[in-house]
Amino acid sequence: MSPMAGDSDNGEAHIARARKALVTGGASGIGREIARRLAAAGARVAVLDVNAAAVRDATAELGPASVGVTADVRVPSEVRSAVEEVGRAFDGLDTLVVSAGVFHVGALETVTEDQWDRVLDVNLKGAHFTIQAAAPMLRESGRGRIVTIGSDCGRRGFPGQGPYVASKFGLVGLTESIAAELAADRVTANCVCPVGVPTTGMGREVLDWKTKRAGETAEQIMQRTAATNPLGRNATEQDVADAALFFISDGASFLTGVALDVDGGAHLGAVPGAE
Ligand SMILES: NC(=O)c1ccc[n+]([C@@H]2O[C@H](COP(=O)([O-])OP(=O)(O)OC[C@H]3O[C@@H](n4cnc5c(N)ncnc54)[C@H](O)[C@@H]3O)[C@@H](O)[C@H]2O)c1
Repeated sequence: MSPMAGDSDNGEAHIARARKALVTGGASGIGREIARRLAAAGARVAVLDVNAAAVRDATAELGPASVGVTADVRVPSEVRSAVEEVGRAFDGLDTLVVSAGVFHVGALETVTEDQWDRVLDVNLKGAHFTIQAAAPMLRESGRGRIVTIGSDCGRRGFPGQGPYVASKFGLVGLTESIAAELAADRVTANCVCPVGVPTTGMGREVLDWKTKRAGETAEQIMQRTAATNPLGRNATEQDVADAALFFISDGASFLTGVALDVDGGAHLGAVPGAE
């Protein structure tokens, strides 16, 4: 029997008990942390990722009840087969986390068509076709949850990040549309929008680029980054997983179409002299 809201004082165990979850990009970083947390809370968890070796590593860590599927989210037929395989293994699916993503940075004049296509295809087209493939099972479950991993780059623009920012703004809009479309079948869709998480694969790539560009150490960049939000520290995978697990919980059953800033208050802005 699925748990009812309020029937447990153990928030996290209660969140995911009996859930059947698929996490794209689940072999690394934020997706992997969400997969860990879901598994630890008793969910059956499948990891979908383009990196086959990392999928094997993740499923070995998650344990024998987990499922690993290798697919490139840019290819809808691959995604469909992978999602169907997970559905057969779990006899359904009620939770989808879309975390697969790639980053690109470069001045406006230097962006090539291939770079544009890669970022938009993974981050936005990939999200759409993954959600499309999972939608029938999520609807069927009567308690479906979709969580997309957006970014502060889906909330405001940043120099040199046009394609990535466009993909993440698009993801917020896609999530809102899916939320409106699937609500009748009690499927919720929400987007978690974190600031930089310097410890993931993508986070290290971004940090590396900044250190080279600014001629500073990683520690110096991380200190300066921490100072851009009022809570004064860098984001972690755990911060993002906390928000994702909340949206998956029974306690979030009346929340849909939300884009949630996980940013230490960075969106609040600062007034020099009034701190
Ligand atoms: N790290 C950050 O600073 C940060 C900040 C905000 C948002 N995000 C978002 O978080 C999500 C996860 O990124 P992360 O930081 O954990 O980075 P990560 O590189 O550690 O993880 C991304 C995963 O996506 C997978 N992936 C990439 N292309 C794929 C494809 N075509 N098909 C299937 N899988 C693919 C990678 O193999 C990798 O395992 C991304 O959507 C990213 O945009 C990251």
